[in-house]
Parts: sequence; C-alpha cells; structure tokens
Amino acid sequence: MIIKKLKVVTVLDRIEVIQGDITTLTVDAITNAANSSLLGGGGVDGAIHKAAGPSLLEECRKLNGCHTGEAKITAGYKLPAKWVIHTVGPVWQGGNHNEDELLARCYRNSLTLAEERGITTIAFPAISTGIYRFPLGRATKIAVTETWNFLRKNNTIDKVFFVCFGDSICQSYWTVIREILGEEEK
Ligand code: APR
Repeated sequence: MIIKKLKVVTVLDRIEVIQGDITTLTVDAITNAANSSLLGGGGVDGAIHKAAGPSLLEECRKLNGCHTGEAKITAGYKLPAKWVIHTVGPVWQGGNHNEDELLARCYRNSLTLAEERGITTIAFPAISTGIYRFPLGRATKIAVTETWNFLRKNNTIDKVFFVCFGDSICQSYWTVIREILGEEEK
C-alpha cells in the first residue's frame, strides 16, 4: 500500500518575519524601497546600493526610473541575493492620496515580477515606513494582506521574508499575522 505523503503547506508556512539587515540575506531576491529615480538614496536603498556595489547603479540608470507602486528588477551584483526588485512606495500625505492602494501595488507588482522570473524566495523591508513616513501598523497590514492574498493564488513562491530593522517592526508584522489567522479560523 502506498501511503502518499501529503505535505500541507499553509500560506503561513511560506511567510517568515525576521529581524536584521536585508542586504545580508541569501535569497533569490531582495526588494528595495527605492525612489522614482532609481538612482539610490538613504535608508534601505542606500544600504542595498552600498552592499551591491557600483554596478547596481549602472544597471539602474538604464531603467529610466520607476513610478510609485511599480516594480523593476536588476541583478544583485555583490549582494548575496541574486536579484534586486526595486519598488517605489508612496510618501505618506495623510491617507487621502491613494497611499494604501499605491503601497499595495508595490507588494503585488513585486511578487508578480518575482513569479514571472521564477524567483522562489523573496525578502521585503517595511516599504515606505521610514523616510516616507507611512504609519507602521497600516503599512504592515497592507504588506501581509497583499502577500497573503498573492500566495493563496500562486504556488511558485516558496517563501516571503518580512525583514525588520528593529523589534517594533517585527511586533507590528506579528500583530497583523495573528489578526489574519484569527479571521481565517472563523
Ligand atoms: N534592512 C532592512 N530594513 C531596513 C534597512 C536594512 N538594511 N535599512 C532600513 N530599513 C528599514 C527602515 O527601518 C524602514 O522600516 O526599511 C524601511 C523603509 O525605510 P526607508 O529605507 O527609509 O524607505 P522608505 O520609507 O520607503 O523611503 C524611501 O528613502 O532611502 C530613500 O531612496 C529612498 O527616497 C527613497 C525613500
């Protein structure tokens, strides 16, 4: 009798919250919280460019920028990650300038681009929650919800890492995941 091993991989198995520096992760792709020029900046953008080396900027120059909510991909160069997916989050302007939808598009478009390229492990920083001042709890809810919805419909991505640059960010992701889990169990 053949007993089929049924490996039930729930969506939650494919999401991981970790604390650390996204530039150190050996994953297929890390996501950069860039600006529309794609020519580097501070925050995680600065850290990624510094770790990747000057070839990253050279390739970014050829991309002709990126609109808010959109995503573009480059090689990772000196980073442990093979690819960098650059996405531009919205600047928080009080919540009445379509910021939620634009941030949701960052995750949706980055995940779609990853799937198109056969990327199976991808890491996100908390897009827009630094210099762009998007409220943390609202941003992490959008990040987890959009990722959860994507992973439910797509089986090609094995793991999404939410990389937190501080404990408060981790706590915010976990709060959202517990809320979603609670809703799933109803
Ligand atoms: N690893 C992981 N997360 C990081 C790292 C890092 N090395 N460095 C910063 N972060 C976190 C921040 O703590 C914040 O939670 O990334 C999140 C996003 O913050 P920012 O990098 O400031 O990005 P954002 O708020 O989207 O603003 C984008 O900042 O760096 C410029 O060129 C960028 O103009 C753009 C703007």
